[in-house]
Amino acid sequence: MATQSSVKAVMDNVEVTFGGRSVRLPVVRGSEGEAAIDIGRLRSDLGLITLDPGYANTGSCTSAITFIDGDRGILRYRGYPIEQLAEKSSFLEVVWLLIHGELPSAAQMKELKAQVTHHTMLHENFRRFFAALPKDAHPMPVCAAAVGALATFYQEPESEGLIHDTVIRLIAKMPSIAACSYKHSIGQPFMYPRNDLDYASNFLYMMFATPCEEYEVDPVVARALDLLLILHADHEQNCSTSTVRLVGSSRANLFASISAGISALWGPLHGGANQQVIEMLERIAAEEGTAERFLARAKDTNDTTRLMGFGHRVYKSYDPRAAILKRTCTEVINRVGGSSRLLEIAMSLEELALKDEYFVSRRLYPNVDFYSGVIYKAIGIPVNMFTALFAMGRTPGWIAQWLEMRREPSSKIGRPRQIYTGATERPYVPMERRG
Ligand code: SDX
Repeated sequence: MATQSSVKAVMDNVEVTFGGRSVRLPVVRGSEGEAAIDIGRLRSDLGLITLDPGYANTGSCTSAITFIDGDRGILRYRGYPIEQLAEKSSFLEVVWLLIHGELPSAAQMKELKAQVTHHTMLHENFRRFFAALPKDAHPMPVCAAAVGALATFYQEPESEGLIHDTVIRLIAKMPSIAACSYKHSIGQPFMYPRNDLDYASNFLYMMFATPCEEYEVDPVVARALDLLLILHADHEQNCSTSTVRLVGSSRANLFASISAGISALWGPLHGGANQQVIEMLERIAAEEGTAERFLARAKDTNDTTRLMGFGHRVYKSYDPRAAILKRTCTEVINRVGGSSRLLEIAMSLEELALKDEYFVSRRLYPNVDFYSGVIYKAIGIPVNMFTALFAMGRTPGWIAQWLEMRREPSSKIGRPRQIYTGATERPYVPMERRG
C-alpha cells in the first residue's frame, strides 16, 4: 500500500510579529530535509494570510511520491532515481511503483499487465462520441472530453473496491482514446487494441495499423515510446497535477479529476510546450533562420517569443529528463533513419543558450519538452498528438497524487484565499442617474 507522506515537526519554529501580536509557527521538514512553515494559525492568531501568485513559494501538500531537487537536477519516483528507472524499468512497472509505493513483484506485474490488457477496449458507443466531433479537433480537448465521458459509462467509479477498476480503466484506455482521436482526425477506421502486444506497441499499432495493411512494431521505437512514458509519469505538484488534486478535493470522481488535468496540461506553458518546440524548430529550419537570430528574439523583452522547451519553475539546472531524451534522440533517429536536421537545430540552440548571459543569469535550461518532440516526430507521431502522449505518460502520476490526497486523513476541499483590491462599498445607482 502507498506509504503515507512522513512529516516530522521539528523543534524549529519561526516567530511572526504583526500589529503588536506574535505567533510561533512550526517549521516542518520532509524526508529530504526540505523545510516549510506551517501557517495554519497565521490567520486565526494574527489575521494574516500569505500571498504567492503562481504558488512559486507555497507548498500545497506533503507527498511521498516524487522528489525533485531543482538545483541539483534530481528527480526520483518513490526514491528511485529517474536515470535508473529510465534504463532498467518499464512504464507499467513505474505505474505500479507510483500508485502502490513499491516496485512490483513478478506476480503483481503479471496481474497488472493482464488487467490493463483486458481493459483497453472502449464502449462501442464511443464511435458515435468521436463521430460527433470535428475532424480537425485537437486531440487534447478530445481526450479531456472522452476521459470525462468515461464517468457516464462507469457511474460508481469510487465505491469501495471499484476505485481499483477505475485506476486500471484509466491506465488501459488512455492509449485507446488517444489513438481514436488520431484516427478520427485522419478519417481512418479505429483499430481495436490487441491483447498480444505490450503497452507501447499496442498504442503504436492502434495509431498506425489499418484494416488494409499490417503494421509491424519496431521494438526500438516501442522502447523509445515506453521510455518517454516513464519520463513523463509524474513530476510532483506541477500545474496539471495540482489541478487534479484540487478538483479531486471537492470529491469529484477520478475520471472528472483526470479530465481537468488533461485540460491544464494542454497549456503551451506546460505540456503544450512539446508541440511548440517542434513548431519552433521547423520555423527555424524552414525560414533558413539561424539559432542566433532566434535566441535574440527570445531574449528581447519587447518580443513575446520564448525559447520553448527551456526554463522551469523548479529546475534551475539541467532537467534530468532532458538529458536522457537528448541521448535517446540520436539512437532513435539513427535506427529509424529520420532527418537529424531538427535535432541539430535544437542542439545548436542549447549550446548557444547555455553560454548566453540572458539564459545563464536566469538559470534557464532545457526541460523535458525540449527534446521529446524530436523523438516523437522521428517515430512518426503527428505534432498535434505530442501533448496527448504527455497526458498518457502523466496519467499514473495524476492517479497516484489523487489517491494520496484522498487517503490523507486531514484532506479537505482546496479553497485558497485572496487579497481583495476592488471597489469598496458603494450604493446602487439607478439607470436614469448613471453618467
Ligand atoms: C513542463 O512544473 C512542472 O514540473 C512542469 C513539467 C512537468 O513535468 O509537469 O516539467 C512540464 O511544463 C515543462 C515546462 C514547459 N514550458 C516551456 O518550455 C515554455 C517555455 N518556458 C517558460 O515559459 C517558463 O520557463 C516556465 C513557464 C516553464 C517557467 O516559468 P516561471 O518559473 O514562471 O519563470 P518566469 O516566466 O517568471 O521566467 C523568469 C524569467 C523571465 O524573464 P525576466 O522577467 O526575469 O526578464 O526568465 C524568462 C522570463 O521572461 N524566461 C524565458 C523563458 N523562460 C523564462 N525567456 C525566454 N525563453 C524562455 N523559455
